[in-house]
Amino acid sequence: MIATGRGSGKLILCGEHAVVYGHPAIALAVDRGTTVVLRERPGPTGPGVSDVDDARLRAALLAVLPAEGFAVDVATDLPIGRGMGSSAALAVALVRADAARRGETPSFDDLFQRAFPVERVFHGDPSGVDHGVSLHGGVVRYLRAGPTFTHLPTPSWRLVVLDSGSAGDTAAMVAAVRARGVPDVLARIGALVSDAERHLGDPVSLGELLDENHALLQQIGVSTPALDGLVRLARAAGAFGAKLAGAGGGGVVIALVDDPAPVLAAARGAGVTAFPVAPG
Ligand code: MEV
Repeated sequence: MIATGRGSGKLILCGEHAVVYGHPAIALAVDRGTTVVLRERPGPTGPGVSDVDDARLRAALLAVLPAEGFAVDVATDLPIGRGMGSSAALAVALVRADAARRGETPSFDDLFQRAFPVERVFHGDPSGVDHGVSLHGGVVRYLRAGPTFTHLPTPSWRLVVLDSGSAGDTAAMVAAVRARGVPDVLARIGALVSDAERHLGDPVSLGELLDENHALLQQIGVSTPALDGLVRLARAAGAFGAKLAGAGGGGVVIALVDDPAPVLAAARGAGVTAFPVAPG
């Protein structure tokens, strides 16, 4: 082993898609993530012992590392392609490991810029919110202009993640929203994020805003019947609010709760994979 790096996964509390167009989003790093270990190995750089191995992973490695000389072990406890920032966590872990390999201690801004090419491999035109919050940690309000990171207080409520079991394609979903041309709905999502920031410590009001955010995401065409079903299940089990999180088209739903147990039990009863997360 010559260097290692880690990146956290993330969840977008509110504002996905609108953030691509310059509106704010609130996102949080979670206590799951990805670790990469770089080992010297003759020949082309590529995956070593890896939880994932596909063409995009190989392209991602080459966006950061030299074309020759490294095996990269990748271990993750994030579900892949589910809106939990698996590519962002990989990007952050890789640039941190690469900096360690070179004996560098880059600034936050430098690491943020270095991780962009990895995110572009997976997402086409990412806003930067995913790898930004992965790098930053905690709860963050993100604006693409700048980019601007505002650290927000860590709230006392909890989130339960409910997994639809299918992956979404972020690049395809972002392109579909662009093709639909829905600037008024995206502006409403942006305004809602500002309300959510004001009500971050009040789960009742925040839950209503998450419900409204999900309705707006339905309007821009990124929800699915499976995600809508998980939102209903979480609300029926007593969640303050629930919405899809991430690009949609698959992926996960987040449910805002003070006690995860009832939503977890309802999910278990319906055969849905679900787990609580704490801001990491
Ligand atoms: C994906 O996690 C979030 C999106 O807003 C895309 C992006 O911000 O790059 C859908």
